[in-house]
Parts: sequence; structure tokens; C-alpha cells
Amino acid sequence: MSKPRHFLSMLDFSREEILQVLELAKTMKSGGYSSGDMPMKGKTLAMIFQKPSLRTRVSFETGMTKLGGHAVYLAPTDISLGKRETTEDIALVLSRYVDIIMARVFGHDIVVDLAKHATVPIINGLSDYEHPCQILADFQTIVERKGRLDGIKCCFICDGNNVAHSLMFGAARVGMHMTIITPPGHEPKEQVTKQATEIGRETGSVIAVSNDLAAASGADVVYTDVWASMGQEDEAEDRRKKFTNYRIDAETMNIAAPECVVLHCLPAHYGEEIDYDTSRLPNAAIFDQAENRMHAQNALMVFLTK
Ligand code: CP
Ligand code: NVA
Repeated sequence: MSKPRHFLSMLDFSREEILQVLELAKTMKSGGYSSGDMPMKGKTLAMIFQKPSLRTRVSFETGMTKLGGHAVYLAPTDISLGKRETTEDIALVLSRYVDIIMARVFGHDIVVDLAKHATVPIINGLSDYEHPCQILADFQTIVERKGRLDGIKCCFICDGNNVAHSLMFGAARVGMHMTIITPPGHEPKEQVTKQATEIGRETGSVIAVSNDLAAASGADVVYTDVWASMGQEDEAEDRRKKFTNYRIDAETMNIAAPECVVLHCLPAHYGEEIDYDTSRLPNAAIFDQAENRMHAQNALMVFLTK
């Protein structure tokens, strides 16, 4: 049996594959998709969640329904991944029932382990290291607003977290410039910066890391996320002090380019990483981003099972 394709990281896809998925997502969103019409008919997606979710759960589940398939939600307490039984056994059992497995996990090693043993595609629905499904939707949104990805300057003003890592890898692949602006001590993992920088040299993408908000000068896209990610709740209070100057507000918008697009993967903590008024500007595309999760993931599931 041939090995399934997995989507654990933005690095799992080439530039051409990312663009192919985005093109399909665009066609699907515009209602122009007719290849089989119900490409997931008779197919089932298992959705494993170790953490809460609104967008990931609903976009995958609704997406499957729209494509003619079915999704099974497995809550954190349902299977107690790694406690009630091993990741290996879960991957092997689910592979006998379903056609795709999406997992939202704490440690990235869990999605890697699922992919090692599963005989169906594994999709990373967020780990502590990457959130690649989010970046497909973000890229679809940037193309809608700016017409292209290559040469666009995107600044992620927040923490060097899972979203930052996937943005860096994705940007490096497609030739987009990515600057990550964080408080000192919260930069992305060094290996991610190194790897993304090397890939970026080949594609013309400049990857930068800064502790200075002025690095957002001339940004075409500014992007933020919660200061404390899921699993870092006990650091939230400390981070509120450290991150106070790393936010998207009127001052940030003055530094960025005119017509700068505002992104946030949501959920948002208004008054912290973004203020409500900035999130509702005409150039804010945060709800397009949320909608595009479904279109991008529908395209992804068709791509992985074709
Ligand atoms: N952006 C995102 O992944 O949202 P959820 O945590 O609600 O799934
Ligand atoms: N960095 C955030 C993203 C939420 C979609 C987290 O991991 O909680």
C-alpha cells in the first residue's frame, strides 16, 4: 500500500502544491467546483481534539458535510490520547474506520506519531509547534485582498508561537516576506528561523525576527494572535505585562503601509493584542480568514485523498 500524504507542517507541501490547494480553495469558494461535486461522499473524517476549538472543529465538520462526507468529533475526554491507549493504537484503529484524521494536540510529536502509524492522511489541526491549516486560510485571504503572495511584506506582532512558525515556513515556500516581532525572549524557535531563512533564500522571501515594532514599517499585512496560547494559561498574567507594546492598534497601523490588511487567527482578546476598533476596520479581514479555514481545508482534504 502506498504511503498517504500528511499535512503536519507548511513544509510538507512544495510551493506548487500550496498554490494548487489555494487555487482549488478559490474555485470551491466561488462555487465553481464541479469535479465529482461530492468528492467526500462515503468518506469519514475523524477529528481528535486535546484542546478547545470553535473554527477548526466547525470548519472541518461543516466542510465535510458540504463535500458529501461525515465528520466524527472526538473530544479530549473521549479517547484520552496517550492515556487510555497509545497514539500508535489510536492511529491504527482509526485508519480501519476513517479516510482522514485531523488532530489538535499539545505536543507536535503526537501528530508526528499519528502520521508514522496511520494508513490514512493526518492533518495537523494545531500543535504547540505549527498551525498549518490556519496559514492556508491566511494565504487565501491575503491573495483575495492583495492579489498575490510573493513580495508581500507580512508582520506577525505577537509571540514566536505555532502560528508564527507556520507563517515563516509558508512564507519562505511561497516567496512572501515575513517579519516576526516579539518581546525579547519570545522569539520563534531558532531552528525555524534558520530553516525558513534558508528556504527563503531560494524563493526570494526575506525572513526576519525583531523586538522592535518599527520593523512593521511599510507592512502590507499585520497579523496578531493571543499573547498566551492554549496550554500557556499560567503565563497569561506575566505575558500581559511583557507584551503590552506588541499589539495591533492605531499606532501600528500608522507604521504599516497605507491599505495594510489586518489579520488575526482568532479567538481575540480585545484590548490586549488588538483593539476592537482596529479589528473592525475595512482592511481587517479576520472573518474572511475564519471563513477561508473551511474553503482551504476542503481543498486540502480533496488534495490529500485524490
Ligand atoms: N484559529 C483557530 O484555530 O481557531 P479555533 O481555536 O477556534 O479552532
Ligand atoms: N497560538 C494560538 C492559536 C489559536 C488558534 C494557540 O495555540 O492557542
